[in-house]
Amino acid sequence: MVSSQLPAGRVVLICQNTACRKAGAAAVATAFEATLQAAAIPEVTLQRCRCLGQCGNGPMVLVLPEQIWYHRVAVDQVVAIVESHLQHGVPVQAWLYRKFHPASGHRSRNR
Ligand code: FES
Repeated sequence: MVSSQLPAGRVVLICQNTACRKAGAAAVATAFEATLQAAAIPEVTLQRCRCLGQCGNGPMVLVLPEQIWYHRVAVDQVVAIVESHLQHGVPVQAWLYRKFHPASGHRSRNR
């Protein structure tokens, strides 16, 4: 789903359960927090959350209410996700979680 309309009251959920933390979710959450604060995007809330049920594909990031999933998010991707998706309403297709966004591109990054 790609939308140019920005829904009000969006929430960025970042899993902080064991598997995602092992993959760097704490640093990803910190990067989102800093980037969101710097961007001062209205009505976007960051929530560190428990398991999103997609263990082994993390760090998992879920943007609501759009239900856009990102997987294996790295710190160096956070600024692009915030700018493209959260500021301009255009999800970063290449980094979407293919299980829920099968038409999206595939990331080529090796981790
Ligand atoms: S540990 Fe993050 S999705 Fe389960």
